[in-house]
Amino acid sequence: MLCYKRREDIERVLKIVKGEGKKVGFLPTMGALHDGHVSLLRQSKRAGEITVCSIFVNPTQFNQQEDFVKYPITTASDLLILSQNDCDIVFLPEVSEIYPNGTTTKTLNLGKITTILEGAHRLGHFDGVAQVVGILLDIISPHHLYMGQKDFQQVMVVQKLIEVKPYKTRLVICPTQREKDGLAMSSRNVRLTPENRIHALSLSKVLFYIKENYRNLSNEKLVELSYELLSKTPEIKIEYLNIVSKYSLEPIETGNQSEPAIALLAAWVGNVRLIDNILL
Ligand code: PAF
Repeated sequence: MLCYKRREDIERVLKIVKGEGKKVGFLPTMGALHDGHVSLLRQSKRAGEITVCSIFVNPTQFNQQEDFVKYPITTASDLLILSQNDCDIVFLPEVSEIYPNGTTTKTLNLGKITTILEGAHRLGHFDGVAQVVGILLDIISPHHLYMGQKDFQQVMVVQKLIEVKPYKTRLVICPTQREKDGLAMSSRNVRLTPENRIHALSLSKVLFYIKENYRNLSNEKLVELSYELLSKTPEIKIEYLNIVSKYSLEPIETGNQSEPAIALLAAWVGNVRLIDNILL
């Protein structure tokens, strides 16, 4: 496994790789890798691509400095996981390599998708995500970009970025990986106390409940009952729980159950903020 810290070095190698006619798959990460990331890596490897993984905790996408400072850094074990799973190239840049002119968050004006739901609760978050993914796509220019459904809105923002720029890269969305008990895999899970790890299970349970009852109850009723269920776990503070169109993330009128929908939520469990979603 090759590992580069400098932009010009990885660009040089990828030019050779592409010159040999090989396809490149890319998974951008902030490290603290888990089986969700490994599933993205495997999908790229199965497609026979030279697979590149970046590990970069992007300062411009954190709307709370505390969240940035506490973001888990586990580089040694990340590199082990990547090499054990046949990752070909790792990109591990310093902040100054990605942002030589400073870490001011820049907006790319990708529209409403960046300001609703997650965007409304984490102001500027998606500007930072689009900014860094744009820079990484400029560097790697992959044929395929692999991202997880767990960050569904992020995936939509990146799809918009690809269309607007436009990049030639094709986005591949991979299913959310869950622990055996249903908890969605997330780098943030390691920060949960053992008690809150148990409380956090209510989040996936409520999403499974919504999916089970989606055809029988109105969206309003389902959301109301979901809040009621979650209130039994007072350690959970919900930021939002919405049933919306899968295409626009806008509310769906009751009675229009034929429109492909998704239930999305964000909640604090103790001092850890988790998100999850389920396609309906
Ligand atoms: O999902 C993440 O880990 C990050 O938001 C990403 C896409 C790597 C950009 O920093």
